[in-house]
Amino acid sequence: MNKPKLVIHGGAGSLEGNLYNYSNVRNSLKEICFSLYGELQKKNSIETVLSGVCALEDNPLFNAGTGSKLQNDGQIRMSASFMDSLKNNFSSVINIQNVKNPILVAYSLQNNKYTNISGRLATEYARKSGFKSHNPYTTKRITEYQNNIKGQKGTVGVVALDKYKNLASGTSTGGIGGELPGRVSDSATIAGNYANKYAGVSVTGIGEHIINAGVAVKICTYLELGMDLKSAVKKIIQNAKKNNYKFGLISISKDGDIVVDKTTDEIFYASYDGIKLNLF
Ligand code: GLY
Repeated sequence: MNKPKLVIHGGAGSLEGNLYNYSNVRNSLKEICFSLYGELQKKNSIETVLSGVCALEDNPLFNAGTGSKLQNDGQIRMSASFMDSLKNNFSSVINIQNVKNPILVAYSLQNNKYTNISGRLATEYARKSGFKSHNPYTTKRITEYQNNIKGQKGTVGVVALDKYKNLASGTSTGGIGGELPGRVSDSATIAGNYANKYAGVSVTGIGEHIINAGVAVKICTYLELGMDLKSAVKKIIQNAKKNNYKFGLISISKDGDIVVDKTTDEIFYASYDGIKLNLF
């Protein structure tokens, strides 16, 4: 049996003025990571990723699900995506509204003919599929919006390698805050979230930069072509620095290597392999 590996993130950046949240973010990521690793020892990587992304979406500290940032018209629109190494089937929801866990709606599309859906019709699909209406607004986010406090980053993600050597990755976001309604986040694209037989990757940061750099799918493809994970991530980060792109990423290879890197000041992450916890 393979030793499970787990890495989670709660966004990249510099907490954008919210430094008082630093220890809360650290403690939350540590707790979620430990508890999720317990699940990963019993369950597979797919179940673990879904459970982990839900826990992060449900925690209002993070910009995903409950506690998502508001767009420039005062609406919350959320995006999420899922992929795993067995099916290699990317599914996503883009700018969905009033659901508790966008990642579960994205995952439910795995068995659908159409695997990526957006906007009002994504919300309608969720209702028809039995996802109840949920209010994701928090007082803190409404106040930020009213005071025109615009961050540029914030996303959550989980990548897991299970004992069967299967990988899964899930990413979810409320976007960057104050953005043009209709903007498509990287989190619902293969640049922001990808998994194949060789690696799983979740990305956070400025979506436009992540999409230009094709981050997640490129790393997985580099591994498919024979590169190791550390070299693949290094190549992506070097290119990002040249272009002044701002993002961070978490990744695991099929061999169990965990690599976390960034061009932002910080990436809020926790990883655990059953022995050693690494925390930002
Ligand atoms: N990475 C989150 C976003 O740009 O929407």
